[in-house]
Amino acid sequence: MIKVLFVCLGNICRSPMAEFVFKDIVRKQGLENKFIINSVATDGGYNARNKESIYPETKKILIKNNIPFVDRISTEMTKEDYNKYDYILGMDNSNITNIYKYIDKDTENKVYRLLDFTSNPRDIADPWYYGNFDKTYNDIINGCKAFLSFLINAKKI
Ligand code: 4NP
Repeated sequence: MIKVLFVCLGNICRSPMAEFVFKDIVRKQGLENKFIINSVATDGGYNARNKESIYPETKKILIKNNIPFVDRISTEMTKEDYNKYDYILGMDNSNITNIYKYIDKDTENKVYRLLDFTSNPRDIADPWYYGNFDKTYNDIINGCKAFLSFLINAKKI
């Protein structure tokens, strides 16, 4: 079983989009039984306290691209997530900085940026501030496909 945790700031735009896109990709490959996939926030619990569900623009993109999802409330990362998951995938460098506020050290090399698995490693810009949810979706789909290829090539599956 490979346990994957997608991480962003609010857990209402990018990381839930990545969670449901990756679930869809592995389901279509018949690999869903090999994965546990989840997503969390690193905003100090702000969006969880406000009981924020998936942002409407994110839901629109998932619906437009036929990606199944269930609505959910933002959940904050915890220290225990480091032991619970095998891969902790941030969307941008500030997410990576924030992840280290929840974990001590990445002693087991679990922490990456999602697009670091692509041939063009970079941040996924926060659509909450920049508004381009289609670009976010394209980045996320490319990152998720590249991550799955990495797992297959590294014989993790
Ligand atoms: P996300 O986007 O990190 O992709 O979920 C954000 C959502 C909410 C906020 C910031 C970023 N916010 O400040 O509430």
